[in-house]
Order: sequence, then C-alpha cells, then structure tokens
Amino acid sequence: MPELLTAARARGSELRIWSAGTSTGEEAYSLAIVCSELLRDHAGDVRVRIFATDADEQAIAFGRRGVYARDALGAVPAEVLERHFVHAGDGFEISKRIRTMMIFGQHDLSRRAPLPRIDLCVCRNLLSGLTDQLQKRALQLFAFALRDDGYLILGEAESAGALSDDFEVVDPALAIYRRRTNAELRRLNERLTIDAAETASANEDIETLNEEMQTTNEELAALNEELRATVEELNASNDELEARGDDLERLAEAREEQLGRIGSQRTALVKVLEAIAGSVVIVRVSDGAIMHAGTPLEVSDFAAMRGGWSSGSTVTSPKGTFTLTSAEVQVDGYLVFRLRRID
Ligand SMILES: C[S@@+](CC[C@H](N)C(=O)[O-])C[C@H]1O[C@@H](n2cnc3c(N)ncnc32)[C@H](O)[C@@H]1O
Repeated sequence: MPELLTAARARGSELRIWSAGTSTGEEAYSLAIVCSELLRDHAGDVRVRIFATDADEQAIAFGRRGVYARDALGAVPAEVLERHFVHAGDGFEISKRIRTMMIFGQHDLSRRAPLPRIDLCVCRNLLSGLTDQLQKRALQLFAFALRDDGYLILGEAESAGALSDDFEVVDPALAIYRRRTNAELRRLNERLTIDAAETASANEDIETLNEEMQTTNEELAALNEELRATVEELNASNDELEARGDDLERLAEAREEQLGRIGSQRTALVKVLEAIAGSVVIVRVSDGAIMHAGTPLEVSDFAAMRGGWSSGSTVTSPKGTFTLTSAEVQVDGYLVFRLRRID
C-alpha cells in the first residue's frame, strides 16, 4: 500500500482501488482505513477512491449505509475505531472522512465492463464460487481494469492461474499478483508467436518423420512378407530334407544288414579256405563240375565224373579210392566235400 500511494503521488493522480464482490462493505472500508492511516496528515497529497461493488444490490445498500454492530467490529483496534467511526445507536457508523473515499455500486462481474485505471483490485472469496469459465472472465476483467504493474489480491484459496500470462505471482500464500505491463505482455506475445512458429516447424518435422516412418513401415511389411515366404520355402525344404533323411536312414539300415550278410559270408568263406587247405573237393551245384580238388587229387582225376555228388559217394581215381563225407559248407551254389581215402 505505501508503494502504491507513493506511485500515485509521483504520478500526480489518484489511487484507485476496486473491491469487487465486496458484500456488505467491510473489506472496502478496511482498505480505505488502511490508506487513511498510511497518509495521516498527508491525505491531501493523494486522492484515494475505493470502488466497492457487488452483484447483490441489498449487500451494496447495506455497505453504503456504513453502519455496523459493535460485534461486527470486534477485531478493530480501539484507536482505529475511535479515529474512523462515530457512535450510531448500538453500533458504529463510518466517519465522513472515510466515506468521501467510497463509491458503492451494483456490478455483476459476469456481465459488466471493467472499471478503468485501477491500481489495486481486491476480490476475495468470490472466484471460488464461480464456474471455470466465469472465473476466467472475471480475471480478464481485472486484467483490463488494472494499470501496468497494478496488483490483484484474491482469497487465499484462490488463484489467477487461469490467466497466468497476464498475472505474475507476487506472494502465493497471500494470493497477491501483479498485472504484467503491456510491454511485458507484448514480449510474451512475441515469445508465444515464436514458440508457435517453432512448434509449427517442429510439427512439420514430426510430420516428415511420420511419413518416413510410414515408408519404413511399408518397407518392413514388404520385407516381412518376403521373410514369411522364405520361411515357408525353408519349411518345405526342411520337410523334403527330413523325408530324404528318413530314406537315408532306411538305406543305412539296409546297408548295415548287407554288411552283416557279407560278414557272415566272409566267415563262411574263411571256413572254405581253411577247408581247402585239407583234402576237399568243391563242386558247382548247377552242372556238377569239379572246381577244386584237394591234395593229393587234382581236378583232372575227376574228368570222367559228372553229377551224383552226395555225401557217402565213392570216387575212384588213379590216385586211389575216396569217400565223400558230408557237404560241410555250401556257399552261393558250390558244395564243399571232405575226401577220405578208403584203399
Ligand atoms: C463470500 S462473499 C465475499 C465477500 C468479501 N469479498 C469477503 O471476502 O469477505 C462473495 C461475494 O461475491 C458476490 N458475488 C458473487 N458473484 C458475483 C458476481 N458475478 N459479480 C459480483 N459479485 C458477485 C456475492 O454477492 C458475495 O457478496
């Protein structure tokens, strides 16, 4: 308040205070009394005008009368009561000196225009009762009403956050705000314009990025498709390979069997070879031809013989008479007999 009074004095103009939603006037008179106390003997230097408005006409009529019961003034210090009130029946009436500062009027913030060139606007415990939209309208009204650097005081539970571009917080606990100067607002506006331009170009970048991402997405989708086809082909090849694997396994088993057979034939052959070492005769089954004759006989000793080869047969040759013992071994169409000399 001293700062505001000094500024008004320096400006050579009046100090204009608006108590909006003042109700029955206590707030407006308190502001007038504070100014009067601060000015004391210099009251003539600065003219103070307090606009006390409310939507409620009856409340305004009450305030305009300026008469309060003793109980309603319990918090007012005795010397203040003495200086600024006069006895009126059971209560007190506001002094003429204070009354000259006051202008009471009915004013609805949701409909009426702002008051001009206000230095301090006090609007306590009103905004919280309004819708968000009306709160914003009321704050816009105060922003229009206040001079550059003018102050706004709200109720402690209220805020000017909805119009934070126009109001700078001075004291958050006491809900005191300063209206930014027009120059500040212009700079803010320019900043916002630049921000908007930057946002627009950032948006363009994002859009370009989005387009690129979309293209990449399409490429990825195509690649995906190709991969799926490749995977299907691989699966088919896999199936074929598996089938071939099965064939190979079967072949391997067959080969194993064959090897087994060859092994046992080899064993038989070994026996044959062992037998050949002794007196044996090998006969081809298909035509009864002698293929081998063991010592001391020779194939030619059997030249006259054809067929009739069986176990127990007797063979007479120039080298003596022999008996064939059982065919011990039979290998792929050949019979092997042992020879026993009997003369
Ligand atoms: C809770 S009182 C606050 C009174 C005083 N400011 C205080 O803090 O003690 C709210 C006042 O706001 C007034 N009010 C409500 N809506 C209003 C509007 N749209 N325009 C002006 N005054 C309004 C009511 O009539 C009421 O007197």
